[in-house]
Amino acid sequence: TTRPDAEERFYDFVVVSNRLPVDSVVGGDGRQRWTQSPGGLVAALEPVMQSRDGAWVGWPGQADLDLEPFDTDGMHLVPVPLSALEVEHYYEGFSNDTLWPLYHDVIAAPSFHREWWDTYRLVNTRFADRTAEVAAQGGLVWVQDYQLQLVPKLLRELRPDLTIGFFDHIPFPPYGLFSQLPWRTQVVEGLLGADVVGFQRDADAGNFQQAVRRLKGYATKGSHIEVPLVDTSPGVRVYGPIKRGQASRTVIAKKFPISIDAAFYREAAARPDIRARARQIRGDLGNPKTIMLGVDRLDYTKGIRHRLEAYGELLAEGRVNPEEVILVQVASPSRERVLSYMQLRDEIELTVGRINGDYSEIGHQAISYHHQNYPRDEMVALYLAADVMLVTALRDGMNLVAKEYVASRFDSDGVLVLSEFAGASDELTRAVLVNPHDIDGLKDAIMAAIELPARERESRMRYLRKRVFENDVEKWSSGFLHVLVHHHAIVASASAS
Ligand code: F6P
Repeated sequence: TTRPDAEERFYDFVVVSNRLPVDSVVGGDGRQRWTQSPGGLVAALEPVMQSRDGAWVGWPGQADLDLEPFDTDGMHLVPVPLSALEVEHYYEGFSNDTLWPLYHDVIAAPSFHREWWDTYRLVNTRFADRTAEVAAQGGLVWVQDYQLQLVPKLLRELRPDLTIGFFDHIPFPPYGLFSQLPWRTQVVEGLLGADVVGFQRDADAGNFQQAVRRLKGYATKGSHIEVPLVDTSPGVRVYGPIKRGQASRTVIAKKFPISIDAAFYREAAARPDIRARARQIRGDLGNPKTIMLGVDRLDYTKGIRHRLEAYGELLAEGRVNPEEVILVQVASPSRERVLSYMQLRDEIELTVGRINGDYSEIGHQAISYHHQNYPRDEMVALYLAADVMLVTALRDGMNLVAKEYVASRFDSDGVLVLSEFAGASDELTRAVLVNPHDIDGLKDAIMAAIELPARERESRMRYLRKRVFENDVEKWSSGFLHVLVHHHAIVASASAS
């Protein structure tokens, strides 16, 4: 499906993210092929890009791969190469062993290494340079996520003609945690290079504004931040509140909760082949009374351990009968060279092994565990087969799995157990909400979900579906881009007059 882009073009709309929507992987036979990239970011942006004639700048997912731009599935992709050392320092190191744990409530301890930071800066500069090369004059650039927080400022310096948006897919931490970061001021300055900085929740936008006030002293009012125009003369740095008459630009920081292509899930779930597959899954699992499902990247933020602990105790106490209930856990491989992820995998697989050892019978497992990636159609079949969906994240920017489950339940059945620490809980308020740290509370919530009467299930699911269909990914992207374009137009007309 891929072909090289014949000639370099300029694009009015450019998305920039760490990963391209396709990942280059080398199979066991030594041959290179493309797979869909993991994670919610790509799932959300793919339909946006397919409906616009834009370019997508990102890393092709493999070290030392220097490719020309190419087209795939109706998208123009502009690869940014990373060396093996850059993957180690920028991606595995600073992005996923410093920022990721720091921004997720320090569930794991963040590591601070100056050489990782140096590479993060270098790689962010490369992304900004490549974007500046492909963006058309006066174009619109939308930078994504925590791996690229310095890009907005770098890009503004290179190309002041561009309109720049930034969206943070993960939480933005409270100042008490963010302030641990030795390079906290540079990160805030990087983000303030955007015209609009989008977050998942009000709390994230509020945390960012607080960091701006504490570190830069800039005034914030509602979603507006007044940023003085930086004096570029050598040695001069502008700090503190804006003085009367001092030129400034306004940056908007507010929430734009991300979503999914809800219609895709509704339509897929209604397909006869996928419904038949859901029945087949149920049969293959031994036709249990209740199928519970967890679907996560294998990540310590997802609360998989807490879920297993609660389930293990319910089995031990006899509140759940292993002949009637099964937990299907899909844990897709993620960041496998980062130590905390390797340790997590060991812990989870030990626990799964123990629970299965204690409670499985021949021909019937307590937990059906899969360290694998499945195609989207298979996921929809799993969602349809699952009576109870367990989303027990300890901290999560949004959690699109929760929304995918809801969108797939065209039968208005099924119960969503949802952590209040996932951004999705702001909207999906009629899920069975849980604090996953409270194991007793989690156990009670799981029991309540298993036993919820059909009428109550239907009424809750109808409400959840309404919320997901009213706020789909189209609304997210058009909402963000509308604010971005509108804001830029106001700023431009004010500076012209
Ligand atoms: O939104 C969180 C996020 O880190 C995305 O930026 C990313 O694409 C996805 O999760 C999956 O993670 P990774 O790209 O590190 O495999």
